[in-house]
Amino acid sequence: MYKVLFVCLGNICRSPLAAALFEYRVLNSNVGITFEVGSAGTINYHAGKPADERVLQLLKEKNIPIQHSARRIQVEDFDYYDFIFAMDEENYDSLKKFAPLKNHKAKLIHFRKYDPYNQGSFTVPDPYYGDMNDFNLVFSICDDVIDNLIDKFKLGEPIN
Ligand code: 4NP
Repeated sequence: MYKVLFVCLGNICRSPLAAALFEYRVLNSNVGITFEVGSAGTINYHAGKPADERVLQLLKEKNIPIQHSARRIQVEDFDYYDFIFAMDEENYDSLKKFAPLKNHKAKLIHFRKYDPYNQGSFTVPDPYYGDMNDFNLVFSICDDVIDNLIDKFKLGEPIN
């Protein structure tokens, strides 16, 4: 069993989408590992809110379930989760500063490190001030990364 946390800024767009998609893909693959999947934000501004309505719309169209209430990352998450995936470089830097101790359990990883089509950027673009095209792009990136990640988990390859 692995515990996996996705982290973005507000925890209403990118990370809840990634968490819902990861759970859905795991359920529909024969990965043979159980996962506990969560998401969080580096800011508290949207705490308690559901995912952005554009995320809800997009996932509904694809029949992917989501249950979500936004929350900010907590110190305890670094010892609870095995993997913390930062959705962009800024999130990664915030998490790095926030991480209380160097020897916590969670591996802090750039999500797009596992994007097979990545051309050097570790950022999933923030869609909050954008339109459905931006949300579709986020979905497509998450889909590529998550497929690849699940393959790595399945093969027992190191993820770090
Ligand atoms: P997220 O998107 O980090 O993918 O959840 C954002 C949500 C809210 C804000 C920015 C990004 N905001 O500025 O409130």
